[in-house]
Amino acid sequence: MTGWRSAANRLHTVPVTDAPLPTNTPETHAGDEPTWWRHGVVYQVYPRSFADANGDGIGDLEGIRSRLPYLRELGVDAIWICPWYPSPLNDGGYDVVDYRDIDPRFGTLADAEALIADAHGLDMRVVIDIVPNHTSSEHPWFRAALAAAPGSPERARYIFREGKGENGEEPPNNWLAVFGGPGWRRVPDGQWYLHLFDSTQPDLDWTNEEVRAEFDDIFRYWLDRGVDGFRIDVAHSLTKDQTFPDLELSDDILSSEPVTARHPHWDRDDLHDIVRRWRRILDDCGRDVMMVAEAWVSPERLPLYLRPDEYHQSFNFGFLVTPWEHDSAFAAIDRAVREAAAVGSTPTWTLSNHDVMRHASRYGLPIGTNWRTWPLTGPADLLDAQAGLRRARAATLLMLALPGSAYLYQGEELGLPEVWDLPPEVLDDPVWENSGHAQKGRDGCRVPLPWTVDRPSFGFGDAEPWLPQPDSFGGLSVEAQRGAPGSTLEMYRAALAERSAHMCSDETLAWLDLGDDVLAFRRGSGAVCVVNFGPTTIELPAGQVIVATTDVSDGLPTDAAVWVLPG
Ligand code: NOJ
Repeated sequence: MTGWRSAANRLHTVPVTDAPLPTNTPETHAGDEPTWWRHGVVYQVYPRSFADANGDGIGDLEGIRSRLPYLRELGVDAIWICPWYPSPLNDGGYDVVDYRDIDPRFGTLADAEALIADAHGLDMRVVIDIVPNHTSSEHPWFRAALAAAPGSPERARYIFREGKGENGEEPPNNWLAVFGGPGWRRVPDGQWYLHLFDSTQPDLDWTNEEVRAEFDDIFRYWLDRGVDGFRIDVAHSLTKDQTFPDLELSDDILSSEPVTARHPHWDRDDLHDIVRRWRRILDDCGRDVMMVAEAWVSPERLPLYLRPDEYHQSFNFGFLVTPWEHDSAFAAIDRAVREAAAVGSTPTWTLSNHDVMRHASRYGLPIGTNWRTWPLTGPADLLDAQAGLRRARAATLLMLALPGSAYLYQGEELGLPEVWDLPPEVLDDPVWENSGHAQKGRDGCRVPLPWTVDRPSFGFGDAEPWLPQPDSFGGLSVEAQRGAPGSTLEMYRAALAERSAHMCSDETLAWLDLGDDVLAFRRGSGAVCVVNFGPTTIELPAGQVIVATTDVSDGLPTDAAVWVLPG
């Protein structure tokens, strides 16, 4: 990765982000390790909404198994399956009752083993979600904690504290829950327990060795069943300031204010000991396995998670939240590439997931629109759906040309939009209630996938799906797009097929100056990616077009991207 930084400075007038990188990272991941994750494409499966094989309106493991050939044909290297554990599904499965089993609505442990085996048979890896910050309130440990007395070992697995005020009627401090409202809930004997998410997701106490040992065992359990990696939920939490001080800092951890280890419950320095412990377990398993952190931290703190004895990768949410605009995109990419290189990891790129508005819609809203509140506040005509899809396709081609790995979210290969107008009565996400109906929540990106053109469920399953699908899903289905020239599905397939030949031979990227509003870079193979953010059509670099998001016979129009092999 030499020279690209200076090339960036020479060729661009846009400022390069200059916040210092951590210097305490002397070692690097061995660049020649036989690692699949360094440039793998991982496809995120949200089990409830992927495919329903048993006809109950909810997706399941047999549904996923039956579609593995589709994913193979799409060209992904791995699937990441969101929580599949027994759960009341108050938070879509991120409220786990048993970390060593499968929710009966999704299938059985035998189904999970068969799914892993089938995926391996098709040369795809399987990454699963681990949710270590909290359990479900229906987890046997939490039930035991409620049944036990204050001060008992059962309560010590969670964070129970006395309240403030004369009779302990005030919460222990002012911490808030991410989904809205206070972060504490009182139990009948007067104590309060901490829940940084929904009140049905009590936080575990990671100072307790029993908690640490339990998760060691959970990692080993799934490694023994053949999984290839773990996505660690809320990796920036786990440990808390043991004095439980009131919160003074903004809890917007991606704000321009850098959040430091001073925060009492996010991104604390002492959480890294836990990560190192997990890493040793992975390293000892003797297979090429990985873990990726869901760490919503400020850019200057992210490399700390990527030290050689910690996570292999972290999601790069800076790229996801970047607006469709040249300078911002350049800065986000530039920064992420440098950060990963500084610690010997590779960057990860993602544009959509189960927590955010789908990028085909996000990019159709004017820059600066709050896409979390817009579905309620409107106005509806702010959304330019066509521009959104155009930009989403260009952003995807850009992402797949970058060094590192890419995480795709199910349905983005179909160009699915956010179903932002779901009626309130079907909303399931706790964000809707907990925000006091100020935000509709995340259901709009979780609507079951359309596989075929026909109702009732567009091939999702035999029953009415758990969330209603809009009419537009038929035309966006796999059946409608497979083999259709110019379809989003075919564009993804072409890009994924070409990516390994042109974008993975090494991890270098050299910026090119092709004019204002044009983002262009060359990869080590010589292939060039060009993205036109400007309003006018530009000339293509000479060479052979590998993949394009649109017809480029007369040049590269606005909001389009192309890969070219100079010749
Ligand atoms: C992050 C997950 O992606 C999200 O869906 C979940 O609600 C929270 N963590 C809490 O587990």
